[in-house]
Amino acid sequence: MSDVSTAVDLHVETRVTHVGRDAKLSNGLVNIPPYRGSTVLFDEVAELKKASGHRAYGRWGSPTSRALEAALAQLEGGANAMLTPSGLSAITTALLASVKPGDHVLMVDSVYPPVRSFCDTVLKRLDISTTYYPPQVGAGIGALMQPNTTVVYTESPGSGTFEVQDIPAICAAAHAAGARVLMDNTWGTALLFPALQHGVDLSIHSLTKYVVGHSDALLGVIVARTRELYLEVRAFHGALGLTVSPDDAFLGLRGLRTLALRLRQHQENATTVAQWLLEQPQVRTVLYPALPGAPGHELWKRDFNGASGLFAVVLRPASEAAVSAMLDGMRLFKMGFSWGGFESLVVPVKGGSHRVSSPLAAGDVCLRIHVGLENPQDLIADLRSGLQRLAATA
Ligand SMILES: Cc1ncc(COP(=O)(O)O)c(C=O)c1O
Repeated sequence: MSDVSTAVDLHVETRVTHVGRDAKLSNGLVNIPPYRGSTVLFDEVAELKKASGHRAYGRWGSPTSRALEAALAQLEGGANAMLTPSGLSAITTALLASVKPGDHVLMVDSVYPPVRSFCDTVLKRLDISTTYYPPQVGAGIGALMQPNTTVVYTESPGSGTFEVQDIPAICAAAHAAGARVLMDNTWGTALLFPALQHGVDLSIHSLTKYVVGHSDALLGVIVARTRELYLEVRAFHGALGLTVSPDDAFLGLRGLRTLALRLRQHQENATTVAQWLLEQPQVRTVLYPALPGAPGHELWKRDFNGASGLFAVVLRPASEAAVSAMLDGMRLFKMGFSWGGFESLVVPVKGGSHRVSSPLAAGDVCLRIHVGLENPQDLIADLRSGLQRLAATA
């Protein structure tokens, strides 16, 4: 690997351009190509016996996927990382590797909804109970620990309602009680939130979002704080037979090269759009922790190195027809259940009576907005027309 890839004295923009590169593996080319292959051949029995398990068969990874794993582990300061076929599979693998029947999980109430379904169905069937806690619990998590609590799961900010969690306080309390802390760090990425430095044990990302960055591949990763944790989760990952395509790993590596630059622009554009939204009469509030005065801003300022481009806008009560009139006519903001790509997206967020705590009141209309890399003035013009359609429809 290039000698600058591990140099922590270098700025992050420099590190993302070099990390995971290896001139030998790429035959002198800048990029490691997608290495395709299932079968690894051996000429001699001694060689076959010596081959460590994870290099002896294609399912355990390719030079391309290993380069991306090494790059992501280095960027976040973890012992090692393992790729999974999607962000959701990274979450479910990390959870399953951390619990056994009879255990109890403390799950943040603002969690990405499919994780809630996983706890309420799969974990429940395995006799693992879940308690949902309010995201702002902080050190108060200690009082919610049960003797059988083995996992405290966090997501900060929550990807629907954007509550920022006090991760250092949660980690201290969870570790004091002998539990492991898992975090969905997709919004912040390794660049904007140093999860492992803050005490998180397994930092989980949907790479589908900002790392791939171009809405053309699904990929996840679990980054482990220590080698022991890595080996434990990796054994489980291997037992499940998880593997990723070398083409997708290649796209992840390619996306990484421009991640720092893209995130900076996403933040700049999102701030311009969010500030404009806040001044509009149809808007009750904007949930974007990077905005001074927004919920979670102080914690965000304390712990994060920047913001990505995803936030929510809460509109004053409006009819379904009015919201449809707004969203159906958008020119640039298309509707899509993802984010992190170069393009702007919008999608309605459900308030949800299932939540134990929510910033949304009954009747609130909440839209999740991903601000892409377009010119923010064009995005504002699109939103202005949308809000005019909303206001003109009963
Ligand atoms: C916060 C968060 N975590 C995880 C995921 C799951 O990622 P993937 O779509 O790669 O499975 C998503 C997807 O939208 C997400 O928003």
